[in-house]
Amino acid sequence: MRIRPDLAQAARYVPGKSIPDAIKLASNESAYGPLPSVVAALTEEASGANRYPDPAGTLLRARLAARAGLQPENVMLGNGSVSLCLHLVQATCSPGDAVVFAWRSFEAYPILARTAMARAEQVPLDAGGRHDLPAMAQRIEELEAAGTRVGLVFVCNPNNPTGTVVPDEEIDAFLDRVPDDITVVLDEAYREFNEQESDGLRYLSGPAARPNVVVLRTFSKAYGLAGLRVGYGFAGEQIVDAVSAVTLPFSVTSVAQRAALASLEDDAWPELSARVEEVRSERARLIAELRALGLPVLPSQGNFVWLAEAERTPALDAFLHARRLVGRAFPEGMRLTVSSPAENDALLAALRDWAAER
Ligand SMILES: Cc1ncc(COP(=O)(O)O)c(C=O)c1O
Repeated sequence: MRIRPDLAQAARYVPGKSIPDAIKLASNESAYGPLPSVVAALTEEASGANRYPDPAGTLLRARLAARAGLQPENVMLGNGSVSLCLHLVQATCSPGDAVVFAWRSFEAYPILARTAMARAEQVPLDAGGRHDLPAMAQRIEELEAAGTRVGLVFVCNPNNPTGTVVPDEEIDAFLDRVPDDITVVLDEAYREFNEQESDGLRYLSGPAARPNVVVLRTFSKAYGLAGLRVGYGFAGEQIVDAVSAVTLPFSVTSVAQRAALASLEDDAWPELSARVEEVRSERARLIAELRALGLPVLPSQGNFVWLAEAERTPALDAFLHARRLVGRAFPEGMRLTVSSPAENDALLAALRDWAAER
């Protein structure tokens, strides 16, 4: 078969494991289903599923724009924000152009770069699991000086999987250094869980506005709609228009659009924000207890915690599986989603045993 030869050896996206009856802490999902009002709205919408969805997502874009103080022309929708990540690479990179991002970060970035035939340029996180933005800026300068065009930069904030956040001043300094025709994506999939209140929207309007910044967000995490696949982004009109040129038509379903709109209703927010608050306080509880156990946990602003166990991770992974708990193991450590208090209790009980065995 005539298949792209470079795909033979290419890594596939490895989703979080799902083991029957196990507690799944592998995909940073919400522990709770959509609100009843959201289920009612999407059920009603399902009866119109013989019709194509609004390809422009008019109502949802208008609502998101109004909440952000922007225009609908500044909003893009995608089949999950991961699709927008891909479309941004496709819209900015020709084959061979570079996509620069920290590593380890969201595991889809290298796959998306390759999909678009771009070159993934990974810049190691610093020793604290944080973005090293000066090193990223330097890599961009080196690549451009060597004749490689840099098309796109991802800054995952908070970073998946380490949970670290880049302070505003560091992003400002980075943006000052990066040529202002290179698109910089602030991937804020975990924004709602971030207590440091840094907010990429400051670059979309007002005195700090930058035409090359994109802010990506999602309904998959805080809004509990991961299975419906709806993400969104804010950017200048030129970038939104370029993304529309590579977007598959009708990729955000009518049910997903309706569920997202229902989740944005004023009366939905008290319950959703209570869930976010629970994640924040459970995260603090987990981190405090893991520290007390002497485990190498990083401070996190996502709905997950990161155990920098490195070489002990495979053993920890097996240990948790045996207790029917599933985290996400990486070569550098283990990411564990913050779940409901009862599931977090089960995780803590297992990690107490793990720490005792060390
Ligand atoms: C940093 C980051 N960005 C984007 C996504 C994609 O989310 P979705 O496609 O569900 O909106 C994820 C999912 O885990 C993520 O961790």
